[in-house]
Amino acid sequence: MLKRARLVGVIVVAFCVRFAPAESMKYGAVATVNPIATDAAMNTLKQGGNAVDAAVSAMLTLGVVDGHNSGIGGGCFMLVRMADGRVIAIDGRETAPARATRDMFLRDGKADTSLSQNGSLASGVPGSVLAYEYAVKQFGQKSFGDLLLPAADLAEHGFAINRSYERKLIATETQIRRFGETARILLNPDGSMLKEGDTLRQPDLADTYRQIAKNGSAWFYRGPFAQAVEDWMQANAGLLDANDFAQYEIKLRQPLVGQYRGHTVIGFPPPSSGGLHVQQILSMIERFDFASMPEADRITVTANAMQLAFADRAYWLGDPDFAPVPKNLLDSTYLAERSQEISPDRAIEVSHGVPPSPADVFKNESEHGEEAGKHTTHVSVVDAQGNVVSVTATVNTAFGSKVIIPGTGVIMNNQMDDFSVEPGVPNAFGLVGAEANAVGPRKRPLSSMSPAIIMKEDRPWIIIGAAGGPKIITQVVCVATQLIDLEQDPIRAMSSPRFHHQWKPASLWIERTFDAELREAMKRRGFTLDEANPSGATNLIVLDRDSAIPVSEPRLEGKASVE
Ligand code: DON
Repeated sequence: MLKRARLVGVIVVAFCVRFAPAESMKYGAVATVNPIATDAAMNTLKQGGNAVDAAVSAMLTLGVVDGHNSGIGGGCFMLVRMADGRVIAIDGRETAPARATRDMFLRDGKADTSLSQNGSLASGVPGSVLAYEYAVKQFGQKSFGDLLLPAADLAEHGFAINRSYERKLIATETQIRRFGETARILLNPDGSMLKEGDTLRQPDLADTYRQIAKNGSAWFYRGPFAQAVEDWMQANAGLLDANDFAQYEIKLRQPLVGQYRGHTVIGFPPPSSGGLHVQQILSMIERFDFASMPEADRITVTANAMQLAFADRAYWLGDPDFAPVPKNLLDSTYLAERSQEISPDRAIEVSHGVPPSPADVFKNESEHGEEAGKHTTHVSVVDAQGNVVSVTATVNTAFGSKVIIPGTGVIMNNQMDDFSVEPGVPNAFGLVGAEANAVGPRKRPLSSMSPAIIMKEDRPWIIIGAAGGPKIITQVVCVATQLIDLEQDPIRAMSSPRFHHQWKPASLWIERTFDAELREAMKRRGFTLDEANPSGATNLIVLDRDSAIPVSEPRLEGKASVE
């Protein structure tokens, strides 16, 4: 009951910002999971920054107030569409240490996922600092320092932790207590837990932000931060060293461009699996007339398409700079054939497909970035000039590896768990993988992050992305189809119940807010149900010729603003 009341409350707030005319939108629109971050982004817009600056402001602020989800110890995928039509996909994904080996998480021949999830072996080189710096330098109007300094002040003076933060602390308490520096920063001085409303101050993180503001990313990748990481890793049997940081590069990727019911879908390519599988699922369901279909059939079709996509993911997907990921996984004939496997009235059993010419791969489509020339977060931003940013960032699971490097305040990611640590062994999200996503030196772990921009008549229309591991892909599909096929208004599309199928485990995750009859129908159709409380973290902006409607996740305590 309480939950429902909160949900309605957030929806009412979101309604307040609805229907603001784009023409009179003086600054822009922002949706994030945290009001402090949304306000920081809006302030950046008001102070002359564009959507790129505002998105980076939001992310740097989230790194302070929402550090269990994302931060400068993690990575990101940033999709930018400038008003002049340029589309840029900045890959700030972590890389494995040079000394990483494919069997590094095996003990006595068996995978030990506690090692890929917590502690010194769990982290890759964080990419967000370089990605944000590059984005601002190339496409922003502010300096990176302008955006770091307000977030540094916030880290120093502190903020009141919200309910989500408190819950993540409780969920990870045992691991937090294992690491002295993490416990020192995230617990009260007497060792008790912080509670909702308590102030968290992070003076070391403030100092780190200020050092980067003053010295640029070199301070992080080729200076004191990299050295501090090496020192801690050496003392704690980790592999990351200063040279791994010095070698880190962001990649500029070729964005994926597909079609769905006449709309252009722009997504993030591998090492994200997100853009590819969102597009696969949309292509496979396109032949069904969702607008006139009973709800149970629509969900069955979509869940079956999700299964087909996730079966391909487990077999084919990995870092395209290391593994051959076939481009024809997006071939329309291949997807039309795969779609024929879909039944609208029963759960199907699937395995991965074989696209035509599988040796035609994504490899070598990336360019080097600047150097050569329940714990992720998505931010959607548009500015008054029409630049849009869809960016997802993460330290992976809550508080990443739980390691804070002493003296820096930086929470290190546990993105190594996104590799397939052993074929068939599920990771923290139950995902399995194969050779393509095996651990390798300097390799990027496969991701589900799916920042997307959907165009209508050559104009950005839907700016969307989410958190939630593999449920990122399916949240984007659920919300997009509700907007496009069912023509739901943005608030309804975001609050409607969601479902998810990732092939393995063989169960349909479904929110209990679907009515009981529908859930029973899905069981009769052969699905094993994993019935869950509403969860998810999508942030959306829907743009029209005369309106901008930002909606932050109604299941969380975020904020959507348009001014
Ligand atoms: O990149 C990925 O797919 C995961 N590391 C994302 C993790 C995530 O979304 C956790 N959030 N709940």
